[in-house]
This record gives sequence, C-alpha cells and structure tokens, in this order.
Amino acid sequence: MKFTKLVLVGALLAAGAAFAEGEATDPAAKAREAVMQAVGMNVGTLGKMAKGEMPYDAAAAEAAKAAIVTAAGGIAAAFEAQGGEDPTSEAKPEIWANWDDFLKNADALKVAAEGADVSSAEAIGASMGTLGGACKDCHTDYRNMKM
Ligand code: HEC
Repeated sequence: MKFTKLVLVGALLAAGAAFAEGEATDPAAKAREAVMQAVGMNVGTLGKMAKGEMPYDAAAAEAAKAAIVTAAGGIAAAFEAQGGEDPTSEAKPEIWANWDDFLKNADALKVAAEGADVSSAEAIGASMGTLGGACKDCHTDYRNMKM
C-alpha cells in the first residue's frame, strides 16, 4: 500500500513538473517541440563556443552541426500532423495553410546548417547570423511566441 502511494505521488509530481514547464501533451505538438528542442540545443552549443562560453571542440561542433542538419531534415515529418489543440503549442495554423512555404523555411535551415563553417570558434561566430536568420524567418511567420 505504501509503495502504491509513493508511486502515485511520484506520478503526480512528474505531471506537475511537466505542466510547470509548459510541456505539450498532444502527441503531434510533442513531436514538433522535440525536433525544435534538438535544433535549439545544438544551435545553443555552437553559440556558446562562438562566444567563448564553452571551449571550442571540433568534434562537438561537427556533431552539433550534423544534429541541426538531421533535425532540420526531420521538420517536415514532425510537423506534418497538425494534431489536436494543445494549449502549450506555439505552432500557428498558417503552417498547414502554407505547407510548401513552411517546408521552404525548413529547407533553408538545413542548407544554412550544412553550409555552416564550424572549423573554429570565430568561423562559428561568422556562421551564426545565417543560422539565426533561418530560425527567425520561420518563427516570425509560423511560431506564436507566448512568452
Ligand atoms: C521551418 C520553420 C522553423 C525553423 C526553420 C525553425 N523553427 Fe523553431 N519553431 C518553429 C515552430 C512552428 C515552433 C513552435 C512549435 C510548437 O510549439 O508546436 C518552433 C519552436 C521552437 C522552440 C521551442 C520548442 C519548445 O519546447 O516549445 C525552439 C527552442 C526553437 N523553435 C528553436 C529554433 C532555432 C534555434 C532555430 C534555428 C536554428 C529554429 N527553431 C528554426 C518553426 C521553425
């Protein structure tokens, strides 16, 4: 009995944490957020190296670049299903109304990531503008910033 109670409390705490972070519950929204978080995390790694907040590491930089290319290539599949209403979703309905244009934005990110020079911290810094521009272009049209 005690064990069951603990499990229940644990589950409730986990659910509470998920809500506190504004995590999506709709599977389609979750898939979108996962792919974007992968993009964000790896761009964050490159950004930190460029700013000297993290020591430059060629292998880690290449891995981050490859992960962005892969994630960008996965945007189409992750966003294809609009799914149900999810209060935490920041995806605008315009995505599905302008699907081809949305995919062009995803492709632009992939091209920007493929073209990013990560051979030094300085080179990363010089590539960040193009990468960041690709994020901004798409977010401006298709992401509803709720913060
Ligand atoms: C093809 C369009 C597109 C591109 C390109 C794009 N994003 Fe996004 N991004 C979105 C959309 C749409 C959302 C909202 C998804 C949702 O809430 O369902 C989003 C959400 C996010 C989120 C929030 C994820 C979460 O947990 O809710 C982060 C972080 C993010 N993007 C980072 C980036 C970065 C960094 C780049 C550029 C390197 C980028 N994105 C490029 C469309 C794009």
